[in-house]
Amino acid sequence: MKNKLITDIPLLDSSESVAPHTEAHTPCTTPKITEDNALPHQRKLYIESFGCQMNFSDSEIVASVMLEHGFGTTSNHLEADLIFLNTCAIRDKAEQTIRKRLMQFNVIKRKRPDLLIGILGCMAERLKHKLLEEEKLVDLVAGPDAYRDLPNLVFKVDDGQKALNVLLSREETYADIAPVRLNSNGISAFISIMRGCDNMCTFCVVPFTRGRERSRSPYTILAEAQELFDKGYREVTLLGQNVDSYKWTNLERGQKLEELQEPKIEVNFAQLLEMVAKIHPDLRVRFTTSHPKDMTDEVLQTMAAYENICKYIHLPIQSGNNRILKLMNRNYTREWYLERIAAIRRILGNECGLSTDIISGFCTETEAEHQDTVSLMDAVQFDMNYMFAYSERPGTLAAKKYADDISPEIKRQRLEEIISHQREHGHNRNKLDVGSTQKILVDGYSRRSQEHLQGRTSSNKVVVFPKENAKIGEYVMVYIEDCSSGTLLGRLV
Ligand code: SAH
Ligand code: SF4
Ligand code: F3S
Repeated sequence: MKNKLITDIPLLDSSESVAPHTEAHTPCTTPKITEDNALPHQRKLYIESFGCQMNFSDSEIVASVMLEHGFGTTSNHLEADLIFLNTCAIRDKAEQTIRKRLMQFNVIKRKRPDLLIGILGCMAERLKHKLLEEEKLVDLVAGPDAYRDLPNLVFKVDDGQKALNVLLSREETYADIAPVRLNSNGISAFISIMRGCDNMCTFCVVPFTRGRERSRSPYTILAEAQELFDKGYREVTLLGQNVDSYKWTNLERGQKLEELQEPKIEVNFAQLLEMVAKIHPDLRVRFTTSHPKDMTDEVLQTMAAYENICKYIHLPIQSGNNRILKLMNRNYTREWYLERIAAIRRILGNECGLSTDIISGFCTETEAEHQDTVSLMDAVQFDMNYMFAYSERPGTLAAKKYADDISPEIKRQRLEEIISHQREHGHNRNKLDVGSTQKILVDGYSRRSQEHLQGRTSSNKVVVFPKENAKIGEYVMVYIEDCSSGTLLGRLV
């Protein structure tokens, strides 16, 4: 269930991240696992996913591929024949968490040598054969573009052959694979609209682990969203590392215009958003992640035009200082970012929810430059913020070009200052909602009590309220009576 996943973060290291809930590309270390779905004779697969929503979404593709090839799934790793870890490489801590988990599974494997352990996702792609051949912690390695090959890789392990596929593709979008929804609340689902990233932010490992950017066909995206709506889902979140650069065309790569049988079609993100929004007014549409350099007024105007496109934007700033932004290769300035915020306020008003990502202690960052980040936060007043200490990733441009010269202690101090400002801003923003009436989509019981339900506002805030006659999956109007820094408290009207 999305919200459960989002708030229970047992493995989260608070010194590294203080996300109040998971964002599409903000790693959440709560493993998401497969459900029980196996016939007696089938080999059972258990998948645990780490990292961002993109990975969780990929695990649903993996489950689909495996079920299609005669495997079953289980929610209990102790009765699994195969264990897959779908992994994240974004920061060193993420990889260490996964290593610990791999060790635990290897303890089980010592007693049950027939247990097959596979590593998938970004850490698999980054380390390639290392965990298989050098460390012998896994039997199978599959990168993010190799999931169609998984059944074959499993058969290779059975045959005693090397099972590794870390080829990245320029085309693969798994467009035709219907994901098997895992741990779903039956109300909210994620839809990947693109894969990879072409941006090359110097701190980031994603372009290396996920390859080149490619956009999925809008037809398959619409079909998937329609099917979800028909099954009773009421919210879809469109996922991509940089959704604003979504661009699909029917002209295939390498194909000449004169070879095209039909007129050339191009679909950008604003157009895709509109098409999904038109499926039904009762289907809420969210998306993430937006990139400050690419987010257009056209997208904002499309959001304004459709009530069911949620008024919430995750717009990572990373730093409020221009020299650092340049070193990060983010391709925008502080002034540009503030202008984009002004455009959001102009077109969508003050109610639009805003969140960001910030990295503290990037290479060579001075105290004064850090203060630029703090002052930018003060100016914008984000509702939410995913805050991280810089973690050097091998192979990235920053690792090659700049010294990781800010001490862990200073990174931590700066992070704490950022966090304390954010607490205040989040609370201030929540207070603005007290006294308003909000339409919320009820998505489950409150974590604390079965007498309370919870849902989200369009601006992505969690609202808890006494359940009365409200039902999960319904839209209700709630009067906001009070708030904490993380939650709104209300009653039905
Ligand atoms: N595509 C998204 C972000 C993907 S990664 C975007 O461009 O905004 C999610 C977040 O992790 C990033 O926004 C960044 O804040 C953080 N992050 C990425 N690499 C990191 C690193 N090496 N150290 C610390 N934080 C990092
Ligand atoms: Fe990484 Fe930058 Fe791409 Fe985001 S836009 S995934 S931070 S390279
Ligand atoms: Fe996501 Fe982590 Fe990969 S954040 S894209 S799973 S490196």
